[in-house]
Amino acid sequence: MAEKNQNQYQLPESNAYRRSDQESLHTMEDEEAKRKKRMKWTIGIIAFVIFQVVQALFFVLVIMKFKSPKFRVGDFAIQTLTVGTQASPSFDLSFVAPIRVKNTNWGPFKYDASTINFTYGGVQVGQAIIPKSKANFKSTEKIDVDVTLSSGNLSSDINSNLGSELSSGVITLTSQGELKGKITVMFMFKKKKTSQMNCTMAINTTTKMVQSLSCK
Ligand SMILES: *[C@@H]1O[C@H](CO)[C@@H](O)[C@H](O)[C@H]1NC(C)=O
Ligand SMILES: *[C@@H]1O[C@H](CO)[C@@H](O)[C@H](O)[C@H]1NC(C)=O
Ligand SMILES: *[C@@H]1O[C@H](CO)[C@@H](O)[C@H](O)[C@H]1NC(C)=O
Ligand SMILES: *[C@@H]1O[C@H](CO)[C@@H](O)[C@H](O)[C@H]1NC(C)=O
Repeated sequence: MAEKNQNQYQLPESNAYRRSDQESLHTMEDEEAKRKKRMKWTIGIIAFVIFQVVQALFFVLVIMKFKSPKFRVGDFAIQTLTVGTQASPSFDLSFVAPIRVKNTNWGPFKYDASTINFTYGGVQVGQAIIPKSKANFKSTEKIDVDVTLSSGNLSSDINSNLGSELSSGVITLTSQGELKGKITVMFMFKKKKTSQMNCTMAINTTTKMVQSLSCK
């Protein structure tokens, strides 16, 4: 009986001991779980902040970098070319000018109508009209315009220069233009930009082909 009693006494004791042991184990597990949860939250918040910073940097350094679109004349074939002689210099020239507006921005470039001046020796010999339009984001707008150039308005000193060019077999023309427009990024950030064209083309009067074409 005494033994039993002892056992009876011990039993609740050891039970209680076991329970508190389990409880402390529980609370330790809880603590560990909480710590892991906090850790997850911290990592999550840090990752979010880093993501935001990277996004902001990308936005400022890439998306919001407004660049002037490139405005130029592409390679073209001459349709008709008639030239005079060194003694009686003249030229008449027609071609389809492939005008290119290359927009590398992350938004469309809307531009106003404009004119390209073709010049010989600084004197205008013809024009090309660029209608109002837009170049979509990260793309090149292609406009083909009919151009006829004529030496009719050249002064005598420029004509003498043309004479010597004709005898060498190459005439050098330039095209100048300016495209004024607006770039819109993400539908709301707008910036005005102006694109300049300044191209120089050398035309071989024998082959009636564009021998060189360079734009700045
Ligand atoms: C030559 O000048 C006249 C008068 O200024 C002008 O109307 C004409 O368009 C010019 N021709 C060319 C080819 O530029
Ligand atoms: C014009 O082109 C022909 C044929 O390619 C070439 O032989 C000639 O040298 C060129 N003329 C000039 C002035 O470069
Ligand atoms: C083209 O010529 C016109 C005059 O004919 C001038 O007003 C305009 O500024 C010129 N454009 C360029 C880009 O040089
Ligand atoms: C175009 O380029 C030529 C040759 O490089 C230069 O002399 C001229 O000043 C330039 N014109 C413009 C309007 O930029």
